[in-house]
Amino acid sequence: MKPNIPYSNILAIETSCDETAASVLRGKIKGQQPDFKFLSSVVKSQINIHKKTGGVVPEVAARAHMQNILPVTEQALRNAKLKLKNIDYIAVTSGPGLVVSLIVGTEFAKGLSLATNIPLLPVNHMEGHLYSAFAKSPGKVQFPVLSIIVSGGHTMLVLMRDFKNYSVIGNTVDDAAGEAFDKVARLLKLPYPGGPEISKLAHTGKTDIKFPRPMLNEANFNFSFSGLKTAVLYYIDKLVAKKSTRNLTKQQKADIAMSFENAVTDVLTKKALRAVKKYKCKTIALSGGVAANKKLRSELALICKNNHLSFVVPEIELCTDNAQMIALSAYFNLRNGQTPKPTNKVKANPAWEIH
Ligand code: KG4
Ligand code: ZN
Repeated sequence: MKPNIPYSNILAIETSCDETAASVLRGKIKGQQPDFKFLSSVVKSQINIHKKTGGVVPEVAARAHMQNILPVTEQALRNAKLKLKNIDYIAVTSGPGLVVSLIVGTEFAKGLSLATNIPLLPVNHMEGHLYSAFAKSPGKVQFPVLSIIVSGGHTMLVLMRDFKNYSVIGNTVDDAAGEAFDKVARLLKLPYPGGPEISKLAHTGKTDIKFPRPMLNEANFNFSFSGLKTAVLYYIDKLVAKKSTRNLTKQQKADIAMSFENAVTDVLTKKALRAVKKYKCKTIALSGGVAANKKLRSELALICKNNHLSFVVPEIELCTDNAQMIALSAYFNLRNGQTPKPTNKVKANPAWEIH
């Protein structure tokens, strides 16, 4: 970055599910090309707490956010070597997500904004995932971009004409991809969070069980993963009916994990490629927690190579929930002309969807 050019410091806060996170981004709002860098990123995970219950209990998550939010924010400022008085904007995730978790971050950010007069920017969590794919070299992105967002609560295909104009062209009609990973992990009696556990187990899979590819042959860009999860359940039921115990062998579990991962990857990649062709996209972007999945990343990288497309995907830490993506989304929104919102108009909104 060149000296003497007005840069703004954005402090971002994220508490939409079970990660308490804060980050500081320094960037130039005006200017032809995006110009920013991350000064800090702190993520306090609640995995060890939720492992005990095999999933997120919202009240427990909210209480942990309450304990963590102040130290995490202070740490993000310390790591950025800045004080609150150096911050120009406060950005906060105010939806979608678990309402009690969202409330903690949103109300904390509102209090901070009121006490300091630093303007407040509410950020959509999915928009955060969307922009996270462009955390590196945003100036080099070739549009149109077909963005695949796969998280615990969402599965979306988003057509991006540029950094300002985007539209959701496909969505899940029932379970999200990450939700399916978590539910199948539970069927296999794997610990929480299920996605990474399935992915680990899949490496030792040998036999590919032909699980269904839901909605693959439909002309739209929507997804459905609930039937796939049920197919896995029926398959397990059939296996255990032949034995005196409900316990599967390690190899049976690995085969199911690999075959399930193959089915999800197959549906996502094929539908994405169809959308790329229809809209003449030059780039595929992948983001969200499930974007941490190695099989999905490598499969998409290969498809992009074979079809002369660029492929952008965040590093693993930026796939699962973090506050860097919230800072980045606020940064792009400011560049796109968004203005801060009065604190009394900012509310946690668990049903805030992008379109
Ligand atoms: O984006 P994220 O951190 O939170 C939401 O916004 O929902 O996504 C969490 C989801 C969980 O369902 C988790 O199981 C899944 O991402 N996930 C993975 C992997 N790592 C996280 N799924 C498949 N493979 C992984 N390696
Ligand atoms: Zn997320």
